[in-house]
Amino acid sequence: MAPTVLHVTGARPNFPKAAPVVRALAEQGVDQILVHTGQHYDDKMSEVFFRELELPRPDLNLGVGSGSHGEQTARIMTALEEVFTERRPDLVVVYGDVNSTVAASLVASKMLIPTAHVEAGLRSFDLTMPEEINRLVTDRLSTLLLATSPDAVAHLGNEGVDPDKIHLVGNPMIDTLLSQLDRLDVDKARAAFSLDGPYAVATLHRPGNVDDPQDVKEMVASLHAVADLAPIVLPLHPRGRARLEDAGLLAHPALKVVEPLGYVDFMGLVRGAAFVVTDSGGVQEETTILGVPCLTLRPNTERPVTITHGTNRLVTRENLPQVAAEVLADGRPETWPVPPLWDGAAGERIARVLVSFLEKR
Ligand code: UD1
Ligand code: UDP
Repeated sequence: MAPTVLHVTGARPNFPKAAPVVRALAEQGVDQILVHTGQHYDDKMSEVFFRELELPRPDLNLGVGSGSHGEQTARIMTALEEVFTERRPDLVVVYGDVNSTVAASLVASKMLIPTAHVEAGLRSFDLTMPEEINRLVTDRLSTLLLATSPDAVAHLGNEGVDPDKIHLVGNPMIDTLLSQLDRLDVDKARAAFSLDGPYAVATLHRPGNVDDPQDVKEMVASLHAVADLAPIVLPLHPRGRARLEDAGLLAHPALKVVEPLGYVDFMGLVRGAAFVVTDSGGVQEETTILGVPCLTLRPNTERPVTITHGTNRLVTRENLPQVAAEVLADGRPETWPVPPLWDGAAGERIARVLVSFLEKR
């Protein structure tokens, strides 16, 4: 019988990573099942990616919704155990570092189903981030570790992972970006938000930035100081909206706070920005390819390659306005290095690794 690959997705960053892998496996004629856990469910956090990214409709949506880490992870595990029992996949593919990722790895590994982790080996070495816990557990349990950058390969080696399991394949998030590049319309984005001169784009959703009311107050002051320099468009993730608004986020006329945007509109806006302020993992990578200076509001990053080979730098709430002024004065770089294998062909490389694994079984 032909082998079946089952993909587990669920949160916004999973979808642009999964799209090129699903496409490349389809081209190789592999039978696939696409599961959406329902971790994210708003149209602009989920559906829009299926409409825009040539990602087929999920075969199953588990509808788990929001909850505490324990509740959400447990609901995903319970539902996936039933799905895996019924569908008996030969390989489960998981993406990134969200709760849907770790839940799927736990269930698959206990059912002795091999697992492939796309974006393996990234480390912030910061165990206060739930994502770091999800990365460590997922990598420990995975059969195939598909890495986006050489530092990730090195981390896995240092942790004693068998080198035969590790494959440096490049970055499927960048496959999606490059395949959509022709549709990313800066003029349309400028018109939509009435932007004339230089502008910035911001995103914020990390617990470390949006969960504590005192931090949020300081964050709002820092963003307002940046908005004194240039207009900012902030498509706001639902996680921090209430707290940020309570802290007066909407009070600055040059800070345009909007709902999360669809992928094409969001990346069109980012493509034309003078700089981006963010705590997103994916946005650090996308700005690296687009050559847009990225100011990352975090004390660390699991994606240091975007600093050594890209446009990223770490900032604090305190120094953000000063760094933003410098970046505005310097303008965008004319040339910049790009990480190896972030070339639009990661999906195909991943598909080759998966097919070769299945053939050997
Ligand atoms: C999750 C991931 C994080 C990732 C982010 C990307 C985990 C532990 N965290 O964080 O790594 O960077 O997604 O966006 O998996 N909500 C809505 N509508 C939605 C989804 C969420 O309103 O469609 C609200 C709910 O109030 C929910 C909160 O956002 O409680 C947080 O959602 P959750 O999926 O738990 O975590 P994120 O902060 O989105
Ligand atoms: N994104 C989007 N619209 C938005 C914000 C983000 O389409 O308003 C896309 C963008 O491609 C980004 C991806 O969603 O890289 C993942 O975003 P998020 O910051 O939620 O997750 P993270 O990468 O931090 O886990």
